Amino acid sequence: MPAQDVKLLENAFNEFSRASDSIISYYGMLESRIRQLTKEVEEKNAELEKAGDYLNNILDSLPVGVVVLDRKSVTFQNKNAARLTTGGIVPYLNVNGEKTGEIKNNKGYFRWKKERLTNGFEGKEVIVIEDVTEVEKMKERSERDERLRAMGEMAARIAHEIKNPLGSMELFLSMIQNDRLKAKEKKYIDYILFGLKTIDRIINNILSYTRPKTLVLKEERLFKIVRDTLDFMSVSIVGRAIEVEFNASYQGPSFFDPDLIKLVIMNLISNAIDAVAEKGTIGIEVREEGSYVLLVVSDNGVGMPEDVRRNIFNPFFTMKDKGVGLGLYIVYNIIQAHGGFIEAESAEGSGSSFFIYIPKDRQ
Ligand SMILES: Nc1ncnc2c1ncn2[C@@H]1O[C@H](COP(=O)(O)OP(=O)(O)OP(=O)(O)O)[C@@H](O)[C@H]1O
Ligand SMILES: [Mg+2]
Repeated sequence: MPAQDVKLLENAFNEFSRASDSIISYYGMLESRIRQLTKEVEEKNAELEKAGDYLNNILDSLPVGVVVLDRKSVTFQNKNAARLTTGGIVPYLNVNGEKTGEIKNNKGYFRWKKERLTNGFEGKEVIVIEDVTEVEKMKERSERDERLRAMGEMAARIAHEIKNPLGSMELFLSMIQNDRLKAKEKKYIDYILFGLKTIDRIINNILSYTRPKTLVLKEERLFKIVRDTLDFMSVSIVGRAIEVEFNASYQGPSFFDPDLIKLVIMNLISNAIDAVAEKGTIGIEVREEGSYVLLVVSDNGVGMPEDVRRNIFNPFFTMKDKGVGLGLYIVYNIIQAHGGFIEAESAEGSGSSFFIYIPKDRQ
């Protein structure tokens, strides 16, 4: 090889070796840069995850349900939404593109509001669900109190007006009965007198329970009164396949009028017996609920639709052929006089529960 070519080759080789040195050093730099970037990405990811956790924590601690929908399928829901929607609230939410609405299901009353997202999140919607069960119950209770107060006043006035002529009719009839009458006429007058007595009894009932007399409060154990009343009523279910389950987790003393509360229990049990008819289970529970003793009477009988349930405490409201419709009205008034309150839950075909709250202490 000519010396000139050797020189060229040597130069080229040196050039190559310099270039490869600098490639190696670039490569090293690149590698450390990549390492640094990977670390930064990991740190950012951890930060993002932390931010996500933080956000989820905040969303979970909200007293409302939050659901994110992406074209009708749920992509996120916080804890509260999961709790509220296990009854399947979400399917109700897309009705006719409405923005707000109310839902009532076996978990309670809910109000919801829907907002469309923008800024790159088009197609997504956020739904906020608020549990308004307690508010609705209180509203229902106060509306009922007002309605029953007016009805009670009217019933008392009418009862009072009827009582006067009733008294005179009874008097005149007994005067006729003292005359010499044929046996047949005497019998007819007996029938009329019997009818008058029945009316009189009903009216006395209305008068005494629309404005319950002063309560005779005693310190008693509610569970004992319940047990005694159950014993007393057990004769009315013999021969039927009715099971009674009694459970008293609260056996302490409280203040109430035992005679009137007996009447409450009797009315509720008698309704439960009517509801289950020939076969079923009646559950009775006495437990403590804050400053109240709670009596729960439930049955797995016929139950009632919502429009019946709303009216059961009205005087003379009955769905029974031989009912008078005063049972629950009397119950209501007695509990009201005790400073307590009552709630009824029911599902048509599967049964009803009555919750009676009686304050433990003197009111
Ligand atoms: N446990 C129950 N299950 C289903 N329906 C009930 C129950 N309790 C009450 N009801 C409904 O409420 C209505 C009113 O009850 P309420 O006790 O006031 O009157 P009633 O039982 O019809 O007559 P009564 O004056 O003889 O008690 C009943 O007719 C019935 O339709
Ligand atoms: Mg009744």
